[in-house]
Amino acid sequence: MYDLIIIGGGPAGYHAAGLAARGGLKTLLFEKRGLGGVCLNEGCIPSKALLYSAKIFDYANGGGKKYGVTCENPVFDYAAAVRRKDGVVGRLISGIEASLKSAGVEIARERAVIAGKTGGGFTVEAAGTAYQARNLLICTGSEPVLPPIKGIESAMTNRECLELTEVPMTLAVVGGGVIGLEMAGLFNSAGSVVTVYEAADKIAGPFDREISGMLQKIYEKKGVVFKLNAAVKDIAELGAEKTLVSVGRRAVTSGIGLESVGVPTGRGAVLTDEFMKTGVPGVYAAGDVNGKSMLAHTAYREAEVAVNNMLGRRDIMEYGAIPSVIYTSPEAAGIGETAESAREKGISARETKLPMQYSGRFMAENEGEGGLCKLVWAGERLIGAHMLGSPCSEIISTLSAVMFREMGIEQIKKIIFPHPTVAEIIKEAIFHA
Ligand code: NAI
Repeated sequence: MYDLIIIGGGPAGYHAAGLAARGGLKTLLFEKRGLGGVCLNEGCIPSKALLYSAKIFDYANGGGKKYGVTCENPVFDYAAAVRRKDGVVGRLISGIEASLKSAGVEIARERAVIAGKTGGGFTVEAAGTAYQARNLLICTGSEPVLPPIKGIESAMTNRECLELTEVPMTLAVVGGGVIGLEMAGLFNSAGSVVTVYEAADKIAGPFDREISGMLQKIYEKKGVVFKLNAAVKDIAELGAEKTLVSVGRRAVTSGIGLESVGVPTGRGAVLTDEFMKTGVPGVYAAGDVNGKSMLAHTAYREAEVAVNNMLGRRDIMEYGAIPSVIYTSPEAAGIGETAESAREKGISARETKLPMQYSGRFMAENEGEGGLCKLVWAGERLIGAHMLGSPCSEIISTLSAVMFREMGIEQIKKIIFPHPTVAEIIKEAIFHA
């Protein structure tokens, strides 16, 4: 009898497994594909490795000129970049495996299905063997939405896109959200002619409208074509050598035996409360499978909350200050309300905004480029922050901490930022608030 069986070894599952085992729970983790899940194998990490190669190539391929650096005949050896990406992923997976083993987690590389509840525990079956546990943690993640678009079977999802070893001449991207924009940026740098088709009237989903517009203009200058209000109906009509479909993800709730123990689902996801409990005592769920935020960093925190509650340490999941980032070049990052979303919710909010050029470090490292920092206030309290300009993916965490601790404007003013850093834009923006 295990104390805990976890189904799914992505960020939620593997993080929970290590914490649970270190907390004294006899833990078994099932993963049918690769440890690290979508994030490590076909999402966050491989895309960042390739985008970094693209950034270096951009500098070599004329981007360095304005800094006084030129290169003759630079080559983007895409296959070599993919091999490096695979190496990065492989090393990270080995690291997770070693860390879990040293914590005492048992790892089974099988597809597991919940088979029912007996006596004091739950039964999980995998490869013809039955396993028993007092608690279950469901971390089966999400999969790409494949809408009923004609010819969709010929299109790539993020998985196949990140496995390409050759750069297509032309790439159509259906969906101008996070995945679509990051892949558009990558293949634009690598030499593809890229067209992004977006059903909405703006790219980048819920990101601040002004920042989305600026990002679109930057990529238009680099040659990416954007078609807005363009809901794609037929892949063949796009006429591209390769097509990426990135129109969202949905929770994986079927084929895992949820019904055998009566785990409630709603809107295609496992329902969870603030303790990550599912409503069936002893069954928890964390990560994309609950459909709440679908971000790896949310999954980590949800895993902590689930395990802490299993260990009898009361912990609550808060969704109010979760940052999101688009790893384009430049990066965009946001957290909390935009002025627009605050207005829609009837919150009386004011916005302060400052060009990134107020940061000396930004000026030193972003010749001729613009950027923006916007802070959204409800009275003295920061309720949102939105930025365009690298490395705002790193800077946004400061604002997560500020929002999480609900710091007021006078407290934020006393934070000392290292100089010169781009993060000082926060201080500048606060003094303009
Ligand atoms: P998304 O929800 O970010 O964007 C999908 C876009 O597709 C929307 O803008 C939607 O209007 C559009 N769309 C829907 N149907 C369409 C159609 N028929 N034709 C044209 N456009 C259409 O979804 P995406 O990019 O697939 O990403 C999925 C999830 O993966 C994200 O929500 C996020 O949780 C995660 N992710 C996060 C990343 C990050 O944090 N940097 C990077 C990659 C993925």
